[in-house]
Amino acid sequence: MILRRRLPALLLGALGVCGAVNVLSAAEVAAARASVTAKPVATVAAHHAAIASAHPEATAAGLEVLRAGGNAFDAAVAVAAALGVVDPAGSGLSGGGFFLLHRARDGKDILIDAREMAPGAANRDMFLDSAGNPVPRLSMDSALGAGIPGEPAGMALVAARYGRLPAAQSLAPAIRLARQGFALTPRLRAELEARQRKFADTPDVARNFLRNGAVPELGVIIRQPELASTLESLAKNGLDSFYRGELARRVVAGVRSLGGIWTEQDLAAYRAIEREPLVAQYRGARIVSAPPPSSGGVGLIEGLNILSNFDLGAVDALTRKHLIIESERRLHRDRAMYLGDPDFVSVPVARLTSPDYAAGLAASIHSAHVLPSANLPGIGAGAAQGPQTTHFSIIDGEGNRVAATLTLNFSFGSGLMVSGTGMFLNNEMDDFSMKPGVPNGYGLVGQEANAIAPGKRMLSSMTPTFVETPDKVMVVGSPGGSFIIGMVLFATLDFLDGRSAAQIVGAPRIHHQYLPDVLMAEPGALTDAERTGLQALGHTVQEGNRRWGNLQVVIQERASGAFDAAADPRGDGVAKIQ
Ligand code: DON
Repeated sequence: MILRRRLPALLLGALGVCGAVNVLSAAEVAAARASVTAKPVATVAAHHAAIASAHPEATAAGLEVLRAGGNAFDAAVAVAAALGVVDPAGSGLSGGGFFLLHRARDGKDILIDAREMAPGAANRDMFLDSAGNPVPRLSMDSALGAGIPGEPAGMALVAARYGRLPAAQSLAPAIRLARQGFALTPRLRAELEARQRKFADTPDVARNFLRNGAVPELGVIIRQPELASTLESLAKNGLDSFYRGELARRVVAGVRSLGGIWTEQDLAAYRAIEREPLVAQYRGARIVSAPPPSSGGVGLIEGLNILSNFDLGAVDALTRKHLIIESERRLHRDRAMYLGDPDFVSVPVARLTSPDYAAGLAASIHSAHVLPSANLPGIGAGAAQGPQTTHFSIIDGEGNRVAATLTLNFSFGSGLMVSGTGMFLNNEMDDFSMKPGVPNGYGLVGQEANAIAPGKRMLSSMTPTFVETPDKVMVVGSPGGSFIIGMVLFATLDFLDGRSAAQIVGAPRIHHQYLPDVLMAEPGALTDAERTGLQALGHTVQEGNRRWGNLQVVIQERASGAFDAAADPRGDGVAKIQ
């Protein structure tokens, strides 16, 4: 059976929203089809530490703190803070995320949940009109879309409980980058281009990022004095001072003047939470990943469990892609149906991550044809997300590890700046399901489990992960919204097949997320024979001119300690080994 359906406009539209930098010209598409190659990265035997992040200055900030005697956790604070300065489209103080930590001393794995939460005045219908329909873009473009930030609390917890240096020392590189400036890179320039009209009308933003209302040329020095002052105040008074006192009062006043509903009580009530990571086995490897309120770990483990019912090494390349895509379809169906904040709803994690449950799903995968998503029990429609958000991976000389994925949600969050603070306001509330079955800004749907409630954390796809074999360990993760779980799934499979960090981040990508029932492929991801073969199996193949994600990979060999690290060639990032 060959399905040929019109592609949902929503999906194409959603892709258009995300990441202009990843839209390729015809010549670039042709080049990409010929090969997708990673930036050159050394595999180095001398081993003290390795960091892969989305920006060279952020990687350098982490290395600086390691050289000053910090450990991977101090470096994580430095990299996170620096990313908020040099890649403000991707993450920042007003956002949130997940830090997955491994402490070498006692082998402890822990997940720091720094996800934003809904303000106390939020309610489940806040983005609906009087007829009960979502008001277009209200959750994305207005201050109502902002969740209570988690990143400062997450950094505070990481620094205080796991770090070795005073947080002020780890914040120093970010302060310097904000105060003295940094050279504009291609990716940030492209993100600014995409928002230029709006930013030109916003003096707080234009002052820092534009020149006479225009986006500056590459290499122009970008300074952010207000953000520098905010960071200096946090360095002086402690990262937790974000949540109470003078800064908190100013932030709340600023957000309310933009039409938001935050209160000082909301900020004071916010806590970063330590959660047990999810742990599973796949082909002799130990997988450690993020639990709810991220869907990442559940999805990754469910996908790997489904795939463990097949011998991927024994099938041809086309069948391998088909089986992985069919697994993605099933794990994303369950994400839409069952996942939400575990402190508010009961999430069937044990069932969804059980090999027996996966065996049942695997039994419905046919090698000769697809099972269309409409024939899986489930709900509504979903669509793609692009490359905002950020991820970094660190391993230090003691074997401590950090995989951290941080976000404001869309590029620059809502695009609104809290006056006088230099902070862009996140629009993470859009990750909630504003009405069961109705798609959000990127077309993702959810059910009751992810409905809005005061104090609740919105469901995430962020998947910071460790993959451990007897010989090696990989620290991995990426931005990319609904694409993230699949990217980490492929990265895990590629790692276990012995691929290098550069090969893992450079591999062309394919993706399926249950609904819309479309197999998406980057230019160069499918050979002609694979495309025809997948269509013959019943896949609706959509090959666009876009690439997605920004994987950051650090691998260490256990015996020699040698590192192999790579930043995704799709972004501006850099992996460094020192
Ligand atoms: O938490 C999530 O799943 C999303 N807020 C992540 C957003 C993202 O990766 C942006 N990509 N376009």
